[in-house]
Amino acid sequence: MLPVEVTGASILLDHVTKRFPGQLKPAVDGLTMEIPAGKIVMLVGPSGCGKTTTLKMINRLIEPSEGRIVVDGDDVTDMNGDELRRGIGYVIQAGGLFPHMTVATNIGIVPKMLGWDRARIAARVDELLELVSLDPALYRNRYPKELSGGQQQRVGVARALAADPPVLLMDEPFGAVDPITRLRLQDELLSIQEELQKTIVCVTHDFDEAVKLGDWIAIFNEGAQLVQYDTPERILGDPANEFVENFIGSGAGLKQLTLTRVAEVGLAEAVVGKPGEKAAAVLSRVTTAGHGHAVIVDDRQRPIQWLSRRQLARLDTIDSSPDPKLPVVGHRATLNDALDTMLVSSAGAALVTGRRDMFKGVIDVNTIMEAITKAQGAAAEVSADAPVGLNTGVFPSPIVAEEPGQP
Ligand SMILES: Nc1ncnc2c1ncn2[C@@H]1O[C@H](COP(=O)(O)OP(=O)(O)OP(=O)(O)O)[C@@H](O)[C@H]1O
Ligand SMILES: [Mg+2]
Repeated sequence: MLPVEVTGASILLDHVTKRFPGQLKPAVDGLTMEIPAGKIVMLVGPSGCGKTTTLKMINRLIEPSEGRIVVDGDDVTDMNGDELRRGIGYVIQAGGLFPHMTVATNIGIVPKMLGWDRARIAARVDELLELVSLDPALYRNRYPKELSGGQQQRVGVARALAADPPVLLMDEPFGAVDPITRLRLQDELLSIQEELQKTIVCVTHDFDEAVKLGDWIAIFNEGAQLVQYDTPERILGDPANEFVENFIGSGAGLKQLTLTRVAEVGLAEAVVGKPGEKAAAVLSRVTTAGHGHAVIVDDRQRPIQWLSRRQLARLDTIDSSPDPKLPVVGHRATLNDALDTMLVSSAGAALVTGRRDMFKGVIDVNTIMEAITKAQGAAAEVSADAPVGLNTGVFPSPIVAEEPGQP
């Protein structure tokens, strides 16, 4: 992969407290939190714990009662709020689009406020629609009600990115779409982020989403008390306490599989055969290798069949017909995806393909078990670049996330 320029800005919440009038306890209580430039930080926690309040204090849609907000080294606590918000993209549930404006007008709002000329705005709108996988010719003149939930959400993301802000704030951006669309939007966000390297702060109710998207996850309790602020690996492998364990829910080991891609693990070799070969010859190679199966690949090295010894014994010549039910995963798939594929395959394993769908090897249950053990080992190490996160508020016994340099 080409090195990409980080265009995001670092954010520091410095001893930030928010007290709403008439509320007994602060919604956010003495929160100090570093958000590193170019990273995705996921905010999770029970309803009412202060996630949205924390997010909105970053762009000052909510003014902190105490403390400072620092973006890219500049204290923005007293900066003009409108000006600040032009440099910070904001995405809310269901896109938050203006219903009486077309897609293009919605996306062009901030560029227009910034005084861009029409041609530049139009070009930018089309560029952004492409980025979020919507055909500009089809969608630029539609109204939000003429879009599906997922499409509205994509337009919401495009609008937030319009003026190329270094920071993107997202409040349950994929909360209102169906699970399949949600996975697709998550993948899209990750590929956009690979390209743009923004600083993204994202609130979610979905812990799996936090694990999938987050470079860092902040787990809050009431009063935006930071219970653990760490990598997904460490939160899964070394939860700070019972509160975090409950939050993770069951199957932490399985969730770790979402963190690893098939390309990162060692694959088993396979006996490979070609159409036109005598089945007996392939069978004898399988027997010699002590394997149970042979993979048949076409002339472009793409797997087309996976034959057991018994199947080989019944055949004369290997034919070239592809098996539509072949358990294949791409090397970019997560181990979780691979496991799903394996479980439905009669071989209890899956074939892995790489570039141009070429056969790379076999992934089996042993590989998955090893990956889980390894992830648990890796989880023990605290990253040296762990951002600071702590509370100094009055809530009982705040549990401070581990800081680098502490014993
Ligand atoms: N404008 C307001 N006036 C008074 N209290 C408020 C206001 N906004 C939020 N609160 C209170 O502050 C606390 C934190 O609210 P916040 O919206 O930040 O929670 P949240 O973590 O985003 O919850 P959810 O997951 O339900 O969206 C809650 O107790 C809420 O009732
Ligand atoms: Mg909220």
